[in-house]
Amino acid sequence: MPPRFLPSPTLRRLAVFVALILLPLLLGGWSWTKGPQSTFDTRGPVAESQLQLFYTTLWVTGVIFVLVAGVLAYATLKYRARNAADEHAAPPPQSHGNPLVELGLIAVSVLALIIIAVPTLHAIWFTYDVPETEKANAYEVNATGLQWWFRFEYPNETLDGAGNLVTGNELVIPAKRPVRINLRSADVIHSFWVPKLAGKVDMIPNRGNRLWLQADEPGYFWGQCAEFCGEDHAVMRFRVIALPEKEFADWLARQKQPARAPANVASTSPEPLRIESASFKFDRNAPGWSEQFDADPLARWRQMQTPETGENPALIARGRKLFQDKTCVSCHTVRGHEGAGVTSPDLTHVGARTTIAGGLLENNAANLRRWITDPHGVKPHNKMYMGVPLGGSVMAGYMKRDAASGNMMPNIQISAPEADALVAYLQSLK
Ligand code: CUA
Repeated sequence: MPPRFLPSPTLRRLAVFVALILLPLLLGGWSWTKGPQSTFDTRGPVAESQLQLFYTTLWVTGVIFVLVAGVLAYATLKYRARNAADEHAAPPPQSHGNPLVELGLIAVSVLALIIIAVPTLHAIWFTYDVPETEKANAYEVNATGLQWWFRFEYPNETLDGAGNLVTGNELVIPAKRPVRINLRSADVIHSFWVPKLAGKVDMIPNRGNRLWLQADEPGYFWGQCAEFCGEDHAVMRFRVIALPEKEFADWLARQKQPARAPANVASTSPEPLRIESASFKFDRNAPGWSEQFDADPLARWRQMQTPETGENPALIARGRKLFQDKTCVSCHTVRGHEGAGVTSPDLTHVGARTTIAGGLLENNAANLRRWITDPHGVKPHNKMYMGVPLGGSVMAGYMKRDAASGNMMPNIQISAPEADALVAYLQSLK
């Protein structure tokens, strides 16, 4: 017979259960509190208020848990059946309706609910809008959720005859300043969440919602759609880049410029930009970013604001032409260049973003190539691949429905050299 350290099978099961919960925490240390999407590593007042609310709730419910579990454990041990006679004994006399116990339990429950409710309501109001005293200093952004990416519009940054500044999947904000975010959806319900800064608040079709956030220091933060919104929900991501005031103003000034034109690109190399064009097969589970990028994404973001050395104007010009020929322009805007598609991310300055494909992949030549040659492999059934429904009709994407057979047929095909040119063009859009 194996040694039994604990007196009853129930207790042994309980011990195993507790060990199973605690073991991963002990083995992993507390590193899980430091991950890029950890709500325990807050970097702004809104997320901090939410974390404090979590701790308040944890303490209150923790005390209740310990009390209830303690009484239960005590009763289980003290009154357990010790022998066969105990097991078949008649139940002891039952008592009901002790007023002191019943009123006491009601009072304690109400007290616990009040202790949780007051800070909860306070945190809800606090999250919803910038505090009165800070309103004059607040910066405003509109965020729209679409299947499966985020559009960010800067309503106070008007462009010369072209509406407001719009960008995609990377929300650049001033640090140390409250940012008021108007939340919208263009299709289904999404949810806006930047774990270290603020969230989650739903983005609901035909209903305005809002929240605010503030980054206490410049930094690079992960965001994520937090409401199931279709098959690519899990890869509907974004980034928030918080910059010092001056750097933010410089970024705005650059973003307001129309796209760079190949003719203006100074060539330092007569050789075509070298890109591996051998393989069109990509491992769907290959990591989307490099360790170097992961180590300091803000540094990489800063690097990406200036043009790459060794640009090839001829290749870029060819890419620009292909961007029209392959009908990319019917969905994407490159401001100052041809086309004005509004259903998909504005690509005017896509070369200056650290991520593509809705925050899923690091923005580099290999990933751009992977994305534009195999959009379905990166993000199954995305709108670039399947086309965009527009007022009853469907604008064909990489696939189109054959009218006669009803089958899906290839519509847009991109050869290896064409991909080289398109990648060079997209990378030039700083
Ligand atoms: Cu959008 Cu989930």
